[in-house]
Amino acid sequence: MKVKAAVLWEVGQPMEIREVDLDEPKTGEVLVKIGSAGICRSDRHFMHGDAPIAIPVVLGHEGAGTVVQTGPGVTLAQEGDQVILSFVPACGRCRSCLEGHSNLCDLHGATGANMLDGTTRLHADGKDIHHMGKVACFAEYAVIPETGVVPVTSGLPMDKAAMIGCSVTTGVGAALYSAEIKAGSTVAVIGCGGVGLNVIMGAALANAGKIIAVDIREAQLEFAMRFGATHTVNAADQDPVRQVRDLTDGRGADYTFEVFGSADTTKAAYEMAGKRGIVTVVGIAPWGQEASINAVDLVRNEKTLRGSYYGSARSRTDMPVMVDLYQSGKLNLDDLVVRHYTLDQVNEAYADLDRGEIGRGAIMF
Ligand code: APR
Ligand code: ZN
Repeated sequence: MKVKAAVLWEVGQPMEIREVDLDEPKTGEVLVKIGSAGICRSDRHFMHGDAPIAIPVVLGHEGAGTVVQTGPGVTLAQEGDQVILSFVPACGRCRSCLEGHSNLCDLHGATGANMLDGTTRLHADGKDIHHMGKVACFAEYAVIPETGVVPVTSGLPMDKAAMIGCSVTTGVGAALYSAEIKAGSTVAVIGCGGVGLNVIMGAALANAGKIIAVDIREAQLEFAMRFGATHTVNAADQDPVRQVRDLTDGRGADYTFEVFGSADTTKAAYEMAGKRGIVTVVGIAPWGQEASINAVDLVRNEKTLRGSYYGSARSRTDMPVMVDLYQSGKLNLDDLVVRHYTLDQVNEAYADLDRGEIGRGAIMF
């Protein structure tokens, strides 16, 4: 079928919104009519070449929609299901999946921006077009592996459902599943964009004592207070490491999170952590950047430095948990999504992200 999609033909160039060919779903795949797609910084990393991806590609990995057709052998979803999209459609058979870490699926990693069989369903001008995260939701329709769709209660607003597909699960998951924040502890979060605000909400859900929001933009910091931050530090005009130490009686925080994506902020997150502090890196730094830490401090203070990919979550069981938390009023996704766009406006939406507009943007179809 012919569908309208945003195609990235060249790194550093705007996406082209045009018609492309989308094949029928193959065995184990479904066709999804996209309802909403979030404007996440991860796509930006690929547009700028800060992270490698096969090109040409349809980006968009934070999405939700409705299943309109199922390919042969599909058992996990049915026509008419409202679904949240997972950008790590797990194979269920590799060692990572079998050990319960489906967010790190080996087969997904090996097939990258292609479907699990290594081919693409998108084509234009005689060329194969790749699918970011096997999702490619900057398009009216997408063919997705059945393990990449998570059926949820229908009637969930599509933009909120889309957020659960990336920023919510990544952020709340980092707080609850990666760091496993203990009640009463002190938390510092560097970067209060779409993902960072969710880390803050996760910390609040875990009943953290102090939650210190760190950003370089005052507006983001004020916004963070609405999601559970108890203190703010503007890193543009003061040394954030020192400020966080001052706010934690000189000890440093029990849990720190890097949610921007750079070597400098990773180092800062490490240095803000106190004795036995747990440092969780969520942001994706430009490819090849290295962050240095004081190796002796790591030992003497028994710190833990860890990464968190997709909130260490298992999409098919943990995304429905996020839906419940939203529906029971414990996750404030209504205030999180503040700007709506059409697919034609996708490049403008990313310009707004670059300008540091507050909250999350979402394309509505
Ligand atoms: N110190 C603190 N905050 C900073 C700094 C800095 N030096 N530089 C930028 N920021 C803030 C921005 O002002 C913004 O509020 O970091 C925030 C980043 O938010 P977004 O641009 O909305 O990015 P988001 O979509 O939340 O993604 C954050 O997580 O999943 C990854 O790939 C993603 O690396 C990205 C990160
Ligand atoms: Zn994302």
